[in-house]
Amino acid sequence: MKRFLMCEPKFFEVCYVINPWMEGNMGKVNKALADKQWQHLHDTVAGLASVSLTEPAAGLPDMVFTANAGLVHKNDFIVASFLHAERQPEAKLFGQFFAAQGYRVQHLREETIFEGAGDALFDAQERLWVGSGIRSDSQALDEIIAVLDVEAHALELVDPRWYHLDTAFCPLPQGRAIAYAKAFSAKSVDALDHAFGENIIWVSEPDAKNFACNAISIDRHIIMHKASAELKSALKQRGLEVIEADVSEFLKSGGACKCLTLEI
Ligand code: ARG
Repeated sequence: MKRFLMCEPKFFEVCYVINPWMEGNMGKVNKALADKQWQHLHDTVAGLASVSLTEPAAGLPDMVFTANAGLVHKNDFIVASFLHAERQPEAKLFGQFFAAQGYRVQHLREETIFEGAGDALFDAQERLWVGSGIRSDSQALDEIIAVLDVEAHALELVDPRWYHLDTAFCPLPQGRAIAYAKAFSAKSVDALDHAFGENIIWVSEPDAKNFACNAISIDRHIIMHKASAELKSALKQRGLEVIEADVSEFLKSGGACKCLTLEI
């Protein structure tokens, strides 16, 4: 059974702007609705997998996006090193949490920006895809390989709206994936086409804007904020079922379902 880490949105709000989605949304989060949406997502995930919680901290509104805590591989946890000062204190708290859970807490070089599983995703074949260009540094890739001894490939993000890899790419079971092409450099689109062939579904711009690629994949279920009828049916034809979980309040911060979880 898959296991995920989540963090209650007790202190969640938009009170700074570090990605384009947050622009114009300062102070605009409906907290009661955010709580309700998070709880619904939690219950949906908990119905299909096991969920652990980490304590939220005052003053760290984005801690709710546990995907950025770091990268988990077996018993290793590579703790994130955030680009923006606003999120940097989260790293210590996540590091402490994973150490207390018995993980070996690993660090990349101090100057290397790495925003965890937001920018590093394993596919069904245990290949790690590492995004860089907006948040994480490209040198994170080699440093991760040195620590984890995994096969890893680089993907270059080119549009600030798709600032983390998990906003534009989601590996699925049986070697499949969904992705949004315009988020990537031409070279990276080729790399994905080459690696996944007909098993990759390129989503439309409206689906991408609804954070369809920011999805949690558990067996044949894919939990996402919203999907078009077209995307649902494309996935259904491949034996995959979309479960929608409305996280509109978190979209105001530039995050959706997958960002609110970290597979551990
Ligand atoms: N406001 C957060 C940030 O800009 C959202 C993080 C979303 N996380 C993710 N894995 N895409 O850092």
